[in-house]
This record gives sequence, C-alpha cells and structure tokens, in this order.
Amino acid sequence: MVKIVSIHSFRGGTGKSNLCANLAVFTALQGNNVGVVDTDIQSPGIHVIFGLGKKTPKFTLNDYLNKKCKIKEVAIELTKDLKLDAGKIFLIPSAMDASEITKILRNGYEVDMLSSGLDKLSEEFNLNYLFIDTHPGLNEETFLSTAISDVLLVIMRLDEQDWVGSAVTLEIAKKLEIPKLGIVINKILPGIDIKKIQKEINKNFKVPVAGAIKYYDELAKLASKSIFIIENKEHELNNDINVLFNFISSD
Ligand SMILES: Nc1ncnc2c1ncn2[C@@H]1O[C@H](COP(=O)(O)OP(=O)(O)O)[C@@H](O)[C@H]1O
Ligand SMILES: [Mg+2]
Repeated sequence: MVKIVSIHSFRGGTGKSNLCANLAVFTALQGNNVGVVDTDIQSPGIHVIFGLGKKTPKFTLNDYLNKKCKIKEVAIELTKDLKLDAGKIFLIPSAMDASEITKILRNGYEVDMLSSGLDKLSEEFNLNYLFIDTHPGLNEETFLSTAISDVLLVIMRLDEQDWVGSAVTLEIAKKLEIPKLGIVINKILPGIDIKKIQKEINKNFKVPVAGAIKYYDELAKLASKSIFIIENKEHELNNDINVLFNFISSD
C-alpha cells in the first residue's frame, strides 16, 4: 500500500519544496519507490530542485487535470539522473506555462480526479510513498488534496505569522481526520533552545513535533539548485531528514 504524505505550510518560503525533495530522495535511498507530485499549481518549483528548471515536460499535472493525458504520461523518472541505486523516484510536475496555470486557477479541478490519478500512479509504478508538495495557505483545493493523505507535515518557522497561521491550518487538518499530523519547525536560528520550543509547540498545538531543523547557511546558499543531501552525505540535514522519515514511516 502506498503512503501519501502532504507537505504544507501556511506561508511560502518556509522550506516545503526543499524538505519535500530531500525527504523524497532519502525515502528512495531506503529502497522505496517514490512519487513526488507538485500540486502547487500557482507557484510550481520543486522541478527546479530536481534539476528540471530549464526543461519543458511533455505533459504536466495540469494536462492530466484538464483530461489531456493519462497520469502515467506525466511521470518523469529521475532515478538515473539522480544516480540513485536503491528505489525509483518519479516526479509529476506542474505546468510553468502562464495560460495553463490560469486555466486551472480559473476553473479549479476535480479533487476526485487528483485522488484517482494518485491511485493509478501508485499502482502503475508500484509506489511505496507519494509526496505532495502543496501551495501555501488555506485554499480549498489544497485541503481537499491533503484530506486524502495518510500523513500531513505542516512546516513552520519561529515567526509569529507562521505560528498563528499554522494553528488555523492544524485546526482544519484535525477536522479532516488525517491519520497522522506532524509539525516541522524549520530554519531555527542559533541560540534558540530547541527542546523548550518543541515542548511549547507540542503543548500549544496538541500535535507532535515531527522534526526541528536548524537554519543551514549551506542549504540557503545552494538556493534550490539541487537536492542538498545527495552532495552532502555527512551533513546534519541527513539526520534531520532521517527523523522525518522515521516519523512518516512508523505506524
Ligand atoms: N533549514 C534551512 N536552512 C536554510 N535555508 C533553508 C532551509 N530550508 C529551506 N531553506 C531555503 O529557503 C528557501 C525557500 O525554500 P522552499 O523550499 O522554496 O520553500 P517553500 O516551498 O515553502 O516556499 C530556499 O532557498 C531554501 O533553500
Ligand atoms: Mg514550494
């Protein structure tokens, strides 16, 4: 059975796409077949981190949602490009074409279609995990797509706006009865007492802290050019991602 993991945040720039890409690669390196779906129709970006910034894919998620192709035709296998020698990894990119973006935004899409597409994809490629990189904020489509998830990770920084927004996000997520919810604190600055802040967040949101990740200059400097953990196998971020993997994979 595939496990669907949505990565969400109330605001943009929190690190969703970078954490999602690194977590997906880490998961594949554990011998799992992994799919990564970019449902951030308004501001797609994870394909850039996967090295496809300058390539125009034949089909995108938008084409599938507009009934122009089958979902399996959208999937791009990246296992060889990323030189992964364990599980396979597939990316389902979102369109970068302005007219395709506005078409979906204007007309919306059927969440049932997304959900059945993910089922077909999992079957076709024998996926163990499917990661959904979402658009930030409280939009209906994102919530409907996270509602079909087994795990929802809400990424937040230690910023008052993130804090207040994440509280609302988690309140809705609880109503959607997603089986597993976790908070990921990201970009923690030096000098912060991580244990103390973790306790405070646990108490406040009544949701477990799935991970607490420091602000890493090296990651910021890479500036979404590639998957950080592939080139930096000894870096502390590998441990952080391992902690997230343990959270999502445990029952
Ligand atoms: N822990 C971190 N330390 C330093 N920079 C980070 C960290 N996490 C993410 N970033 C950087 O923050 C920027 C925004 O990240 P991104 O993944 O695009 O966020 P989102 O998808 O939530 O908008 C990127 O340049 C990324 O490299
Ligand atoms: Mg993003």
